[in-house]
Amino acid sequence: MRLKDKVAIVTGAGNGIGRETVLLFAKEGAKVVIADFAEESGKNVLQEVKNQGGEGIFKKVNVASKESVDEMVKAAVEAYGTVDILVNNAGITRDGMLTKLEAEDWQKVIDVNLSGVFYCTQAVVPTMIEKGKGKIISTSSVSGVYGNVGQTNYAATKAGVVGMTKTWAKELGRKGINVNAVAPGFIETGMVAAVPEKVIEKVIAKVPMQRLGKPLDIAQAYLYLASEESNYVNGTTLHVDGGIVL
Ligand code: CAA
Ligand code: NAI
Repeated sequence: MRLKDKVAIVTGAGNGIGRETVLLFAKEGAKVVIADFAEESGKNVLQEVKNQGGEGIFKKVNVASKESVDEMVKAAVEAYGTVDILVNNAGITRDGMLTKLEAEDWQKVIDVNLSGVFYCTQAVVPTMIEKGKGKIISTSSVSGVYGNVGQTNYAATKAGVVGMTKTWAKELGRKGINVNAVAPGFIETGMVAAVPEKVIEKVIAKVPMQRLGKPLDIAQAYLYLASEESNYVNGTTLHVDGGIVL
């Protein structure tokens, strides 16, 4: 088992990529903290984890609220004594062309995708520094690295994740903490289901592998970065996108 007895917080674990991640991490021996705003789906995922013989808890959180995040991390430490792995996976889109993008949609995406990653990381880091060990993984996107029509707000946050990752890798490397990001391409989840069909057809045509990615494709990248196998990987952004940008 690659994560035996490790305690892993995964935000946005109630659906999509996060759900697949906690199922995989639990199979690899981790105790998972399913941290999501969506209560019903989060509890359902916890049941799925238990059904496959895994261990975990569900904790409702709004990553855009520092207070809520601090409470979630406190609950994780109370339940399992420590945090070894944080996956900053929760994220949202509010797409719109620059000329039409509402300030409210700009702010909402910044609050969840950027401030949320900052709050969660700041909350777990003291525990990791104390033990001289830890893994922090945050979710960027092909949109943040290369830009995407209709995603001014989202691209800004996902590029921001890359910048924060590099900064934290420099600050925390000497404390024994690895900080990395994953930049997925288009993955088959609820987020992509909301994209117009004609856009998706164009996206698939650009991918050398000629398909969308699956949540497991990303969960496996998170697993590598959460495991001991990546102990000398720090400050990198791992692109898991079928080669869409080539
Ligand atoms: N490339 C080039 N041109 C594009 C384009 C694209 N990808 N998407 C739209 N356009 C063009 C349209 O053809 C249109 O051109 P004309 O004015 O010449 O007709 C113009 O831009 C305006 O497009 P719409 O008519 O669609 O404008 P709208 O205001 O109704 O909608 C939108 C704008 C909400 C951004 C809509 O186009 C949309 O949803 N696009 C998809 C955005 C997208 O790719 N989101 C990814 C979500 S998944 C995700 O975010 C995961 C991840 O990390 C990758
Ligand atoms: P999803 O929409 O399927 O799941 C996102 C989860 O995050 C949901 O369970 C939702 O309840 C939760 N969430 C949203 N706001 C929250 C908040 N404020 N606090 C706590 N939880 C919250 O999305 P998906 O596709 O699984 O995305 C996961 C991550 O991967 C996101 O960061 C997304 O931006 C990123 N990503 C997704 C891609 C895709 O094509 N699906 C591509 C590139 C990156």
